[in-house]
Amino acid sequence: MHMYDLITRKKHGAALTDEEIAFMIDGYVKGEIPDYQMSAMLMAIWFSGMTDRETAELTQVMARSGDQIDLSAISGRTVDKHSTGGVGDKTTLIACPIVAACGGKIAKMSGRGLGHTGGTVDKLAAIPGYRTELTREEFFHTVETCGISLIGQSGNLAPADKKLYALRDVTATVDSIPLIASSIMSKKLAAGASAILLDVKTGSGAFMKTQEDAIRLAQTMVAIGEAAGRRTVALITDMDVPLGCGIGNSIEVRESVDVLRGQGPADLREVSLALAADMLYLIGKGTPEACREMAERAIEDGSALRTLCRMVRAQGGDARVLTGELAFQQAPFSREVRAPRDGFITQMDAEAIGEVSVVLGAGRETKESVIDSAAGILLHRKYGERVQAGESLATLYTSRQETLAEAERRYSAAIHIGTAAPAPRPLIFARVEKDQITRFGGEEA
Ligand code: URA
Repeated sequence: MHMYDLITRKKHGAALTDEEIAFMIDGYVKGEIPDYQMSAMLMAIWFSGMTDRETAELTQVMARSGDQIDLSAISGRTVDKHSTGGVGDKTTLIACPIVAACGGKIAKMSGRGLGHTGGTVDKLAAIPGYRTELTREEFFHTVETCGISLIGQSGNLAPADKKLYALRDVTATVDSIPLIASSIMSKKLAAGASAILLDVKTGSGAFMKTQEDAIRLAQTMVAIGEAAGRRTVALITDMDVPLGCGIGNSIEVRESVDVLRGQGPADLREVSLALAADMLYLIGKGTPEACREMAERAIEDGSALRTLCRMVRAQGGDARVLTGELAFQQAPFSREVRAPRDGFITQMDAEAIGEVSVVLGAGRETKESVIDSAAGILLHRKYGERVQAGESLATLYTSRQETLAEAERRYSAAIHIGTAAPAPRPLIFARVEKDQITRFGGEEA
């Protein structure tokens, strides 16, 4: 078999066989297929696409390329969640403790921030002392004793995806549905949970800018999960506007705790509860309505917050920053971004706002960048709200004073102020399961 022939076939739109996909991925991981040939193949896939069978096979081969976590030793049903990435998306820190407090088991490996989108591991690392790396024994023990453990991705989880993702990143081939679906699902399958809830974001801050593309990505991932014997469902949720009011690592942990205390922004609470309720439903905890009630009760009776605190202590973290006994370290510099005129916020460019948080130090500009966990943005006015000239739209926080001027300029450019109130936007557009799409439109931010 020759890579040249496979590239030629894919260039002309042919479907690769299972053997050809295995040959190509194994050869690439071993270094026998060079980057330049794999780059050509990725671009051919970008243009020609892949059939469902090819995408499922690519996923399986990548999932098998490294460690595959066997969670069968954990008592009870395990459930995982995955967000395709957003700005201010801290739902894992809310939905997962809720599910664990209701009896679900969460053994979850989370990623670092990617570009303008934040990562759960970076948020957890903002908690003093919290260990995002555990041994297998510690990981399993924490899940058994706390119902939940959130750690960073093991270095050897789907190494084929790691190598391919790095190449896609520099060859303009990230935004391909079969490549995104196989990349995400290879890691989810290797991580071992029996059920998977996907949160596919759509809008200005998401990979998928349109709802229809988000639904196509969701259908592809759901089909892969179900074919691999995992109960898999996706919610299509809004990422045209940042979720909640906090962006940045310790700011987002604080806001998650607010929601777990029954406070916090309504949009964040709603999306987190919808995710938690669906995760409970997927592992058979009751009807959708009963699962929703169960999730709400876990906030009201404080059990979800206690579960989060227990996990944080078990992983060496100082839970006093969650209980309010200790404050997170404050950023030394801040600046208000003020409204230039009266009106209504008619548009927020979520991707541009995520980039502002990176400028402030909350994300990585290069792989080696060190995160400033106190840096970030607190939004005071969001989409649809009335603003008055001179009032603060947001506060920017950083440890690097020299970033403030550029961050202020970019934040102002990301906000559009119009004269009339815009139409309300739904938070959750659709639910995608095997053979069924349910569309919603009623929920309002
Ligand atoms: N996240 C991933 O893990 N892979 C992609 O391709 C895109 C987002």
